[in-house]
Amino acid sequence: MKIKLLSLLMMGALSSTLYGAEDGATLYKKCAGCHGANGEKAALGKSQIIKDLKKADFIAAMKGYKTGTYGGAMKGVMTGQVKSLTDSQMEAIAGVIAK
Ligand code: HEC
Repeated sequence: MKIKLLSLLMMGALSSTLYGAEDGATLYKKCAGCHGANGEKAALGKSQIIKDLKKADFIAAMKGYKTGTYGGAMKGVMTGQVKSLTDSQMEAIAGVIAK
């Protein structure tokens, strides 16, 4: 049991070094509760369907929430989500979710 767990951990460590800096799918997990597993839901009934956004627009929205230059009535919800993300993390998420 312990050995299995250890090798799983090692595989995880290995794949994150192999596949470079950021793993958009993993980063997106905390977003899925509101936006749907694949970005197919209007979060809290308010947001756009984010899987339909172009990558550039998706990234611009994320950066805008971070700097306070983008958003609607519920932007405060998103500010909390993006404030700890780096640009490359936002780009990685856009890479798996947006068009
Ligand atoms: C607690 C629910 C919640 C979580 C978690 C959440 N969002 Fe959102 N998201 C929203 C809401 C609500 C809006 C619309 C906010 C507004 O009024 O501008 C939104 C808007 C967006 C938009 C812009 C779409 C638009 O309507 O203009 C993007 C892109 C986005 N979210 C991506 C993400 C990503 C990526 C994550 C994870 C890092 C995430 N969200 C986590 C609720 C959430």
